[in-house]
Amino acid sequence: MLEGGVTMLRLEGVSKVYRVGAFGGRKRDAVRDVSFTLGAGEVVSLIGESGSGKTTIGRMILRLTPVSAGTITLDGQDVSALRGSRLKSFYRKVQGVFQDPFSSYNPVFKADRVFAMIRSAYFPGVSDSDWRAKVAESLAAVRLRPDAVLDKYPHQLSGGQLQRLLIARALLLDIRLLVADEVISMLDASTRIDVLNLLGDLKERGLGILFITHDLALGNYLSDQTVILRGGEVVEQGPTADVFGSPQHPYTRQLLASVPQLHKKWSEVDAELAQR
Ligand SMILES: Nc1ncnc2c1ncn2[C@@H]1O[C@H](COP(=O)(O)OP(=O)(O)O)[C@@H](O)[C@H]1O
Ligand SMILES: [Mg+2]
Repeated sequence: MLEGGVTMLRLEGVSKVYRVGAFGGRKRDAVRDVSFTLGAGEVVSLIGESGSGKTTIGRMILRLTPVSAGTITLDGQDVSALRGSRLKSFYRKVQGVFQDPFSSYNPVFKADRVFAMIRSAYFPGVSDSDWRAKVAESLAAVRLRPDAVLDKYPHQLSGGQLQRLLIARALLLDIRLLVADEVISMLDASTRIDVLNLLGDLKERGLGILFITHDLALGNYLSDQTVILRGGEVVEQGPTADVFGSPQHPYTRQLLASVPQLHKKWSEVDAELAQR
């Protein structure tokens, strides 16, 4: 395992203004002045209600949309400035997995085509047998049997399998940071626990994970640090035990109070884990 806590990702005063309406004439402040850091082997939860700016933050980190103000650095490098080969090596280190696994697949192609795309972009010189071994290794890391998923079409696989395939694809690249945006929300109860365990394994392997969720119980379960967002702004952030144990902001208290089953859910998770 890598040394925990070495800062990899740093957001400083990050804001996002979308231009909306006809001809982009109006502005929408989606994210305002957000700052946090994330280290190797650390899970940071970004928790907030729908529309609070979580996905926008994930997309800015992944360079899928530009920041309007502030800076995002990975290992001290300004992510916004990356071009060409440096941007490509950035994506070797950082990958995202999103809420709806089905939308990441083309239904016309077999699901494992997502691997072939990584191969042609990043590993053109690797032999077939080495590539098969590499794929098998990353499938093992997400606890998928190759014969259960390879050569299948997306509709033949479950949401959980598709989600794990996407994580396996990210692992082909030896990533160090995974942006996981609501990856658990759409899964059924039995797969949720698998993906949750998988994220725990990845953390043990030294990966940093930005765990984006609207589910307080999941954030509490998995993360070291918690950032609570409301309307694009951070209302509270700190070690998860502190934020959940003694919330300082009225909004956080209100959120926690609105989840009376928080501790019940917790024990359900524990019970499910104990059964494995
Ligand atoms: N591409 C976009 N163009 C304009 N507004 C957007 C766009 N994406 C998101 N928004 C708006 O930005 C705000 C934050 O959205 P989002 O980041 O998706 O929040 P969350 O993931 O927490 O639900 C919302 O008001 C949303 O409507
Ligand atoms: Mg979202």
